[in-house]
Amino acid sequence: MTSRDEAAREAAALSEKLHRHAHLYYVLDAPELPDAEYDKLFQRLQAIEAEYPDLRTPDSPTQRVGGKVLDGFTKVRHRVPMLSIRTETDITPGGASAFDARVRKELGLAEDGPQVAYVCELKFDGLAMNLRYEHGVLVQAATRGDGEVGEEVTQNIRTVREIPLRLNGKAPPVVEVRGEVYMKRADFDALNERQREKIAAGQKNEKVFVNPRNAAAGAVRQLDPAIAAARPLSFFAYGLGEVTPAGEGGPDCPTQFDWLQQFAAWGFPVATQTARATGAIELIAFHENIGRQRDALPYDIDGVVYKVDSIGLQRQLGFVSREPRWAVAHKYPAQEQLTEVLGIEIQVGRTGKLTPVAKLAPVFVGGVTVTNATLHNEDEARRKDVRVGDTVIVRRAGDVIPEVVGVVPESLAKPDDQRGPLFTMPHQCPVCGSEAVREEEEVDYRCTGGLFCAAQRKEAILHFAARRAVDVDGLGDKLVEQLVDANLIRTLPDLYKLGFTTLAGLDRMAEKSAKNLVDALEASKKTTLPRFLFGLGIRHVGESTAKDLAKHFGKLDSIMDATEEQLLEVNDVGPVVAQSLRTFFDQPHNREVVEQLRGREPDGCGLSWEEGEPAVRAPKPLAGLTFVITGTLPTLSRDEAKDKLEAAGAKVSGSVSKKTHYLVAGEEAGSKLDKARDIGVEVIDEARLLEILAHGVVAD
Ligand code: IVH
Repeated sequence: MTSRDEAAREAAALSEKLHRHAHLYYVLDAPELPDAEYDKLFQRLQAIEAEYPDLRTPDSPTQRVGGKVLDGFTKVRHRVPMLSIRTETDITPGGASAFDARVRKELGLAEDGPQVAYVCELKFDGLAMNLRYEHGVLVQAATRGDGEVGEEVTQNIRTVREIPLRLNGKAPPVVEVRGEVYMKRADFDALNERQREKIAAGQKNEKVFVNPRNAAAGAVRQLDPAIAAARPLSFFAYGLGEVTPAGEGGPDCPTQFDWLQQFAAWGFPVATQTARATGAIELIAFHENIGRQRDALPYDIDGVVYKVDSIGLQRQLGFVSREPRWAVAHKYPAQEQLTEVLGIEIQVGRTGKLTPVAKLAPVFVGGVTVTNATLHNEDEARRKDVRVGDTVIVRRAGDVIPEVVGVVPESLAKPDDQRGPLFTMPHQCPVCGSEAVREEEEVDYRCTGGLFCAAQRKEAILHFAARRAVDVDGLGDKLVEQLVDANLIRTLPDLYKLGFTTLAGLDRMAEKSAKNLVDALEASKKTTLPRFLFGLGIRHVGESTAKDLAKHFGKLDSIMDATEEQLLEVNDVGPVVAQSLRTFFDQPHNREVVEQLRGREPDGCGLSWEEGEPAVRAPKPLAGLTFVITGTLPTLSRDEAKDKLEAAGAKVSGSVSKKTHYLVAGEEAGSKLDKARDIGVEVIDEARLLEILAHGVVAD
């Protein structure tokens, strides 16, 4: 590198550029640089800072991630107290009128006097944060705490991409910007999905978060900034703390609306729904308008906030008991409520997935009356220990299906004999009675009655008729819906029993289309084994697997009767596929459907294909061996390694046990490596793995 001065100049320029592009990307959603280009600049800055550590300023874009684990949080006394806000619980328009009336009275305005100007904002459901900038640089982030004293969480807040580390443009020597740190619903769902996976993998101290607010609070108060960084937080600015100099020299913002614009100009996200309003009528309109949009917003709000726009009038109105007279929160129906569990039922989805659903005493939550809430799956229902008769928290946010968040402590504390039975997942499909199975490393049970199950009927028919399956031209989803709903098709063979008269008699069906469909059905009878097999819709049996199976066995009967071991000999068939084929053909209902489809007319449907001879066996050198993969391998992704192993006949499992033959460990292998060493499982690296794949297991 060149001289220190030059490095400093380059670092400053890079930093400036990175800040600008990060803002375009994270806040404005309008990136101007390809990601790779951004990464290049970022790495260049990292390199300079590595050579000249003193150039690594606290506001450097490289300082968003990392940092050291804290032992605890330092207390911070707020220079300007962080007040709370009066809540108007009357969710009718009356709530807005009451606030306007109080403000008018305090200001001594006559009934026919001028209207008051307000700013209407959203009331975000996260946690309030005070961000202190000195000479434009973020120096401290603190939680609200009790309003007087909060906790310093600067390290964690630096990981929030939407919060500028340095203000854009001119900034006063000191300014504190306040706002809400929150988590978007999609980020929350993804985070919980990851948490569930971790719990399923045996990580005992991980937990599932009850709502985005709770997850955001947990992330902010994380002592390990690396963990905080992995929990995606967002931010909206809405208020001001200390600012110096207060009058002359500072930003010229005589209204709240001006301040919000100033925040946006400095680089903060400000909610686009924010609007000016005059008088009670416009407040009511805002409340109603946002109420309609609430479910479609990507984050939770629990109400709106009205603020007197003029800072001068705000001063005049002042405070009562730590709440400003110039602002109020006007609520919406709560998104979480308590209710009683009346029963637990199992729903079967279009793809055969079984979902436990709590039947609830009707409760008004998130603006609708809810009587059903999902318990997701067996593990979730058991983890939450939901039982009939319990009082539970139900959450309905956005357009999503209501869910049971958890059981209240009072119900959980009851003696076991005074509560309903422990939840167990049925091993039979409640719709068709076929076996329901949970595959290894999957959380869901699935009905294996594919072709026979009424819940899966429409899906199964559409799949069978698809172009890449037996190809019934013109049989689309609207028509299938109509046929199934009119009870004209119950199982696949019924499809071939539909006559011209029945079809032509359907609503919106012209004679010509009926004739075409009859012809298409006739044409589909002459098919191929791979098409037919794929059309059966057996889980994990895609087009190429169907081809491999047909090629390997030649005949349908051989596939239907093959043992799991025999199935494993097929190219690219691993244990999951083999098991799935076996369970499918073990269901008498499914076999019956197959027999009817290929049976000769007039009793059967008359589908036929040419059968062939079995292929010569491909060797499966690693059959019978179990591998576990952990950490980052130097060249293969974990999925690639898994595919290669399974193709060679090995089983790949998610956890190390006495049954494991080899642990393939890469960089940053964690608890699995410790466990393997503990119980004496052989640990190998990628190089050895590749050798085993190439030559089988031979001593080196
Ligand atoms: S203003 C003096 N505006 O609600 C007024 N607060 O009880 C101080 N909140 O702790 C707050 N959205 O966490 C304000 N647009 C908004 C808000 C908002 C959410 C939260 C904030 C605060 C609580 C007030």
